[in-house]
Amino acid sequence: MTDKLLGIDVGGSSIKAGVVDVAAGKLLGELISAPTPRPSTPEAIMPVIAALADRLPAAQGRIGLAFPAVVKHGRARTAANVDHAWIGADGAALVRRLLNRPALFLNDADAAGLAEVRFGAGRGEAGTIILLTFGTGIGSALFTGGHLLPNSEFGHMELNGMDAEKWASAHVKTLENLDWPAWIERVNVYLERLHALFWPDLFILGGAISERFADFGPLLRSPARIAPAQFTGQAGVVGAALAAAEAGA
Ligand code: BGC
Repeated sequence: MTDKLLGIDVGGSSIKAGVVDVAAGKLLGELISAPTPRPSTPEAIMPVIAALADRLPAAQGRIGLAFPAVVKHGRARTAANVDHAWIGADGAALVRRLLNRPALFLNDADAAGLAEVRFGAGRGEAGTIILLTFGTGIGSALFTGGHLLPNSEFGHMELNGMDAEKWASAHVKTLENLDWPAWIERVNVYLERLHALFWPDLFILGGAISERFADFGPLLRSPARIAPAQFTGQAGVVGAALAAAEAGA
């Protein structure tokens, strides 16, 4: 198995890529990115992925592709903040066709969770971990004993008659101009609900907002431990490569 794999993380506004040392769980060199094309159809996104891969020749073998969708049996079943033409698409087959390399296609929050559980804030935690990524939506990843239960989609848990992510995401904080205490009050309600259902030992809070953990961390409340993500903006890229490595070269 090669140690240097390419990780790619597709988001609604940018597509990030990097070469990951999968044995050490870290990025080798820089994280590079390109704007997500509009419309963000498979035909538009795949050439961007090819261009990013071309700029990272140090990576070999299998590619990990993290995507904001439920991925079942290799196919996207939903599409959050990307064109709905992705629904039904086999991301690994598209990469294979484009770059002639094997690939693994997985949910973006599951990828971020893998990075944190193997090498970040969840390392060494044998119990139940829930990672939440706060961004445009809320992504989630559920682990127990280091094993991922894929496609958990806790951002769509109903809270106050709506999807939790429509009430407590980082995007909603900006939209509604909520200050830290007002936003964290919502996050605390959400964590309480999740805790009542899953009794995690540890919540890991990720997404770009986790870089501001010092500002809001002291306001958080939960019977579970709460830690900020360590990989922040790189988590999807690192985790996608780790998932590809774990799937076999
Ligand atoms: C999607 C998830 C995704 C999350 C973060 C949610 O809206 O349903 O699949 O992981 O956003 O991108």
